[in-house]
Amino acid sequence: MEQRKPLTTAKMRKMKQDGMPITMVTAYDYPSAMLSEEAGVDVILVGDSLGNVVLGYDSTLPVTLDDMVYHTRATVRGASNTFVVADMPFLTYHGSLDVTLKGVARLMQEGGAKAVKLEGGAEIAATVEAITKAGVPVVGHLGLTPQSVHQLGGFRVQGRSSEQAEKLMRDAKAIEQAGACMVVLELVTEELAAWITKELSIPTIGIGSGVHCDGQVLVYHDLLQYGSASVPRKFVKTYANIGETIREGIREYVQEVKSRTFPAPENTFHMDNDVVQYLYGDKE
Ligand code: KIV
Repeated sequence: MEQRKPLTTAKMRKMKQDGMPITMVTAYDYPSAMLSEEAGVDVILVGDSLGNVVLGYDSTLPVTLDDMVYHTRATVRGASNTFVVADMPFLTYHGSLDVTLKGVARLMQEGGAKAVKLEGGAEIAATVEAITKAGVPVVGHLGLTPQSVHQLGGFRVQGRSSEQAEKLMRDAKAIEQAGACMVVLELVTEELAAWITKELSIPTIGIGSGVHCDGQVLVYHDLLQYGSASVPRKFVKTYANIGETIREGIREYVQEVKSRTFPAPENTFHMDNDVVQYLYGDKE
């Protein structure tokens, strides 16, 4: 397979200018990263959605910096030729700048990420600016920001009213001005996402935000139906049902062990006959 180089933030900006969609998918470990890179995705996001789809929590809030470092490191090992972004988890960037930068350093130095993603708008612009000035590319995240789910009152589409839309536009511009290299728009109305995409010079990456964003992101476990929520969500498309394939495979294994058809002769190793005879011959 041809070795490719990871994208750069400058190349992603050029893709926006040229109208070339950017593909992003989440991955959390070596195999998901390797398969995503082999499939040709432009950017891998080690999302804190790993709290839901890998660790079995009901939100992203319990995810720790240690969790993120651990999963980022495994992901980067599987996709060394892809631009890997890692999420800063819940409340790791709202305290002192010193603590924030130490967290960023861990994701970059121990995890091997090429950029970090932070949820929020104007209220975190100063933090985005400080991280950017430290030489680290920052990806913003606006709209439905799962780390603020309790404040937002649930997983609701954002930007339906003119007030909400104007606020989101102000937030997007604040993040861009602070130096963000890209911004994820989650569950934003298509009209607003298109407007933000037109107004910003940095790429917008949509999830549930319509087709006019500069790129799209989906959660690995959602697009592959890999043990994620079975309740269909309008913005997710299932491209493969590997959960069913895995369940079927394991079911067959269980049946074959129970019926002693596995291991079969071709899965079994033997001693030479004379050794068998020497060890056990007289004991039969
Ligand atoms: O954590 C995550 O997977 C994300 C995507 C949904 C954008 O932030």
